[in-house]
Amino acid sequence: MKSKIDELLTEIESFAANSKENVEEFRIKLLSKKGKVTELFDEFKTVAPDLRKEVGQRLNELKNKAQDKISALKEKFEGESNSQNESIDLTLPAEKTTIGSRHPLSLVRNQIVDIFSKIGFTVSDGPEIEDDWHNFTALNTPADHPARDMQDTFYISENPDIVLRTQTSSVQVHIMEGSTPPIRTISPGRVYRNEAISARAHCQFHQVEGLYIDKNVSFADLKQTLLYFSKEMFGEETKIRLRPSFFPFTEISAEMDISCPFCKGNGCNICKGAGWVEILGCGMVDPAVLENCKIDSTQYSGFAFGMGVERVTMLKYQVKDLRLFFENDVRFLKQFKSVI
Ligand code: DAH
Repeated sequence: MKSKIDELLTEIESFAANSKENVEEFRIKLLSKKGKVTELFDEFKTVAPDLRKEVGQRLNELKNKAQDKISALKEKFEGESNSQNESIDLTLPAEKTTIGSRHPLSLVRNQIVDIFSKIGFTVSDGPEIEDDWHNFTALNTPADHPARDMQDTFYISENPDIVLRTQTSSVQVHIMEGSTPPIRTISPGRVYRNEAISARAHCQFHQVEGLYIDKNVSFADLKQTLLYFSKEMFGEETKIRLRPSFFPFTEISAEMDISCPFCKGNGCNICKGAGWVEILGCGMVDPAVLENCKIDSTQYSGFAFGMGVERVTMLKYQVKDLRLFFENDVRFLKQFKSVI
């Protein structure tokens, strides 16, 4: 037995491989189930008890040597094949990297923020998961108002007091509750409505809310602010018109149209021949809303407005299908050049 161990030891020491396959053959020859080393371990059962200690030690030594040698050889050949793969042709032209671009909704949102920042509006934020008070009640929207219909609003089933906000008007309430006038702020953000998804409607979209509260704020201030915005956004020649409307949280309320930026008011297929396109809702903040937010309505007045970012973006870039904004197909996205 001892001589067999010695023989194998010399075989291992003198073994030289010239390929990965050689090493594998050698491993099988020694260490596989029927390998020579394994066979010696089987034979070990027959060794006389007084010799067991010595023979056992030598057997272990043999096995370790075999394993070490095989690992070392394997590493050597793997290292060689890796370094072959790594050889680089430095004369090749560099691989082209593509740079992403800003999402069109971000571009337009940033532009809106920029335009209002220039006339002193700050930017504010509020939670997307809202309570009933901030999304509806404080905004003068009674419990039986159609805007609360289960079809429009995502409620949390465990707690009917919690909703996904349906409008960024909820941020108005947070701001008014948390500060004293003068307040001049815009609040961009995502909103959710339980709508079937189509080219013209989605269950999530973006709005920018505007709020201005101070002494003696008038409807004329609102009109002038919106005219300034429209010219900055759609071009100097843009005209606006305000149509009477209704929102629970404003009194008086209006919807604002701009002269169609494509046909300059002459009528085209974008404005469906009207020459005007609707762009936002607005009005004077209802005194009841001010009082709900602990602002003295005998001293202060203000205006508010809310616009859809998707709507402005669709008009600006002539995007016909709302779903494109959420699918994130790079072929669509890469058409928008980052300007801000
Ligand atoms: N929150 C309204 C909506 O989602 C938009 C709106 C209309 C906001 C009038 C306002 C406003 O601040 O005064 O349809």
